[in-house]
Amino acid sequence: MMTPAELELRRYAVQGLVAEAGRMALDYFGKQESLGVTMKGAQDWLTVADGAVEDFLRQRLAVLFPADTVIGEEGGGAASDAVWIVDPIDGTANFARGDRNWCISIGFLQDRVPTIGIVAAPALDELYIGQRGQGATLNGRAITVSGTEDIKRAYVELGWSTRIPSERYLAVLERGYAAGCSVKRSASGALGICHVANGRTDAYAELHINAWDVAAGIVIASEAGASINDFFAGDGISKGNPILCATPALAPQLREITGIS
Ligand code: IPD
Ligand code: CA
Repeated sequence: MMTPAELELRRYAVQGLVAEAGRMALDYFGKQESLGVTMKGAQDWLTVADGAVEDFLRQRLAVLFPADTVIGEEGGGAASDAVWIVDPIDGTANFARGDRNWCISIGFLQDRVPTIGIVAAPALDELYIGQRGQGATLNGRAITVSGTEDIKRAYVELGWSTRIPSERYLAVLERGYAAGCSVKRSASGALGICHVANGRTDAYAELHINAWDVAAGIVIASEAGASINDFFAGDGISKGNPILCATPALAPQLREITGIS
């Protein structure tokens, strides 16, 4: 088991990598005509930046932490008791269209416990950091979840993908509106969870999401006081799971609305 100081050293090292990866991604983002956009499936976008940023992070993580494993959205990988979970570009559909709401997300799980989370949104000049037991920050300032208690004031993000039949998504959306929530979708699960952490929204829910979308955000949001389901239960690392991340007072009602517990 690593000490908090050892974990902090790891966090600093990876912050440096993420800053470099962020400059790389931003460079691609500034040249929209050469992004080499292709589709992995319906509404599942890929650009050359996704592969390039993931390759860069994998190479550097292997040098820094040769005994650890890496799981990435583009290249896969295996879990271990020290695993980095990487989404090179989350919000690729936004990235490919010139919308700034995208990020690089890296989470570290020690003995399956989410321990370090770094989410960088270079086009927005925002860096979220969380370390288990050490709090969460946005650009160096401590962040906390909102204090919203009334569901009729709640602002909820409901993530969507073609992995879930539209009827199921629409049923949750309908129950959310019927309860009085304002619902949105911004197409980056990692940033959506960070927005719960700093109180811009009151909850992020999605009926299925992959580990690379949420591994970092879970550390950041839980350190900011969010209530989050046990996402890594069962095969969560390799196959994904539902996620519900909410300010605590709203969590019970949102569990009912989303069916995610
Ligand atoms: C997607 C985004 C989206 C979420 C999907 C993810 P990608 O990741 O995070 O917001 O709803 O579940 O697959 O394709 O942009 O890396
Ligand atoms: Ca993603």
